[in-house]
Amino acid sequence: MESIQATKQRFGIIGNSATLNRAIEKAIQVSPTDISVLVTGESGVGKESIPKIIHQLSHRKHNKYIAVNCGAIPEGTIDSELFGHEKGAFTGATTSRSGYFEVADGGTIFLDEVGELPLTTQVRLLRVLENGEFIKVGSSKVQKTNVRIVAATNVNMFEAIKKEKFREDLYYRLSTVEINLPPLRERQEDIHLLFRKFASDFALKYKMPTIKLSDDAIQNLIKFRWSGNIRQLRNVAEQISVLEQNRAISADTLRGYLPSGNSNLPAVISNTKSESDFSSEREILYKVLFDMKADLNDLKKLTMELMKNGNAKDVQEDNQGLIEKIYGDNDTEENLEDLQVLAIPQKSENTKTYTAETNDKYHFAEEIEEEETLSLHDKELELIKKSLDRHSGKRKLAAEELGISERTLYRKIKQFDL
Ligand SMILES: Nc1ncnc2c1ncn2[C@@H]1O[C@H](COP(=O)(O)OP(=O)(O)O)[C@@H](O)[C@H]1O
Ligand SMILES: [Mg+2]
Repeated sequence: MESIQATKQRFGIIGNSATLNRAIEKAIQVSPTDISVLVTGESGVGKESIPKIIHQLSHRKHNKYIAVNCGAIPEGTIDSELFGHEKGAFTGATTSRSGYFEVADGGTIFLDEVGELPLTTQVRLLRVLENGEFIKVGSSKVQKTNVRIVAATNVNMFEAIKKEKFREDLYYRLSTVEINLPPLRERQEDIHLLFRKFASDFALKYKMPTIKLSDDAIQNLIKFRWSGNIRQLRNVAEQISVLEQNRAISADTLRGYLPSGNSNLPAVISNTKSESDFSSEREILYKVLFDMKADLNDLKKLTMELMKNGNAKDVQEDNQGLIEKIYGDNDTEENLEDLQVLAIPQKSENTKTYTAETNDKYHFAEEIEEEETLSLHDKELELIKKSLDRHSGKRKLAAEELGISERTLYRKIKQFDL
């Protein structure tokens, strides 16, 4: 059997607390079996490495491993994603499609945030767990699959059961073995170790000397509550690594990076950071970039409309909201004159050539956008991470702060594998 140390090394897991070692040991022990495992623990404690360990150390390792974030898939499509659908099963189902349970036959499926599964999906899942059977959406044919399930949750499942949001029978099926990862504040001996690892990673990434905490700062780091756990610790390490010129970090400097209010340090009013505004220069810049990107997309949409339609008045009427958003409502008239000029060639005799040309330009613009998007994605990811940390992983608050819907945030979290 692979040793705990070797497993930690292989999966990049830092820490030496007894509870972490116990969790890894359990994962190693259950890996050769087909037992369902439920990984529990707060957001950011490192739940995602457990199913990876279980899969990689199992006889299933040469087959598929699929991680599904149950909270990120809209309720209307989750059955089809998991179990597949037949052609014509619903509007838009023009072809039949295999679901994850069919594709991962012989492998492992990780159901992250399993507490978010709709009740109807829970019934289907229970059946798979009981006898390996499932039925595609819109089909009557029973299919068989051999999938090992590892699920994870950061919600209290007993409460979910009490509120009738989660089936009790499914809970017991899923949690044959439960592996709990304790919050970071309960494994204090790992905190500085993790911080040093992250600090050295970021020093390498940003090509700067590694930051070093003073003794006082280390004490404060250890005493902090870390409600966003390791994810939050990593973010703090990154922020300090990027922003601090002086690489020797005092307790005072560190305090500026720790959100006040949820720490068990003596209450000290921070004069450098507040919890919910974008107070670092970098963040403000990113925010400006996103706003610009959004404006650019709106403008592209409007230009496209004009090119297709050719009649600025119609376009103006149809896109009143958009126009006000881009130009503000004071000087719309003036700006629309410019838009009219843009639209004129469309009406000329050479409409065809003109359209082809502009279409090309439009595509060209799209390509540029793609490149720009790549680097922007990193920044966006960072902004989202920070916002989630600031709100201790509470998506509703983070979504509000970022000015996007909770659903969109879910999708981003899934897209960026947060
Ligand atoms: N023990 C650990 N050592 C190093 N990095 C860790 C450890 N635990 C978690 N992380 C990192 O912290 C972040 C959050 O972990 P993740 O597994 O996504 O948390 P959860 O799924 O519990 O919310 C990830 O970037 C992960 O790589
Ligand atoms: Mg997770």
